[in-house]
Amino acid sequence: MTDHQALVRPNIIEMDPYKPIVPFEVLSEQLGRPTEAIIKLDANETPYGPCPQAVDALTRIADEMPIYPDPQSRRLRERLAEYTGVDMAHILCGAGADELIDLTMRLFLGPGDAFVNCPPTFGMYTFDGGLVGAQEIVVDRCADFSLDIDAVEGTIRETGAKIIFIASPNNPDGGVVDHADLERLLALPLIVVMDEAYMEFSHAESVAQRVPATPNLIVLRTFSKWAGLAGLRIGYGIYPLWMMDHLWKIKQPYNVNVAADAAARASLDNLDLLLERVERIKAERDRLFTLLHTINYLTPTPSDANFILCDVSGIEAGELKRRLAEDHGILIRYYNKPRLENRIRVTVGKPAHTDALIAALRQIGEGL
Ligand SMILES: Cc1ncc(COP(=O)(O)O)c(C=O)c1O
Repeated sequence: MTDHQALVRPNIIEMDPYKPIVPFEVLSEQLGRPTEAIIKLDANETPYGPCPQAVDALTRIADEMPIYPDPQSRRLRERLAEYTGVDMAHILCGAGADELIDLTMRLFLGPGDAFVNCPPTFGMYTFDGGLVGAQEIVVDRCADFSLDIDAVEGTIRETGAKIIFIASPNNPDGGVVDHADLERLLALPLIVVMDEAYMEFSHAESVAQRVPATPNLIVLRTFSKWAGLAGLRIGYGIYPLWMMDHLWKIKQPYNVNVAADAAARASLDNLDLLLERVERIKAERDRLFTLLHTINYLTPTPSDANFILCDVSGIEAGELKRRLAEDHGILIRYYNKPRLENRIRVTVGKPAHTDALIAALRQIGEGL
């Protein structure tokens, strides 16, 4: 009898299952608290939601709903060209930066091809690399989470890796790539992907405007974080023109739906409001950092993003997460894996969220 399962691609049989997030409503049921009584600081979403104009835009797309969307997202790319300062011919939109990571992987990597990943970092690089059957070459970051640029350079020369993925600011520590390190990477014979999902929150400047004159640089951005559109799935990539020719061939024709497109355009039309919120989040990040420093069992890492990674001592990070959720209705992310032993990551919320979190952390600290 045929073993039908043996027909599945071997690299997929060997892949670990993806660990999906628990939906907010399910969590709220598990915790026995209504969603409004939960402070969600676990997924780097904005506490301010989308701008009202984006919500409004969704009420005006009825005519567009029965019709397939523009495969080239022209109207949105025109606005993005103004926002980024890069000609729209370089811009490709997708269902979140996640889709563009996947598409970029599929453009360059086939089974056995090597890519470099520098953990701790965003998990989708490993996930999407596994999906195409590529070989992940891991070069750990230094203790301060900066790139180990000598090791990266050596590894690329030795392995002939085709592409490297770097988040800047990096998730989960919030650090940005050093300018000189980026120059060294760009001088190598490989493609450099700068994932700028959190760039709006950073003091550093985007490298997007360098893309047109840099044949091996890609920049990925998203509306998920600063614009409050994570649920609509809308992001974009900025690519050299020679890559765009191929990307148009391989992307799904209708990957950006009309709702996401309309909300993203409305967001770009209301930058003043959204960027003022970003400024509020940046100010709150600084206040949260100072307050986290006063908790004697936590050591926060300075961050250029909308989250702060903390070293935990005297209590297990998983236990801390559990107590914050069950006793206080505050959700955070915890890690306990190599290079991220006993850490938590806290998303920057509103001032009241910070106050509630700090009060809960103090209360937990009293019992330690
Ligand atoms: C570094 C990084 N890149 C990309 C993404 C995904 O963004 P999107 O929601 O646009 O798919 C995330 C989300 O957490 C992230 O942390």
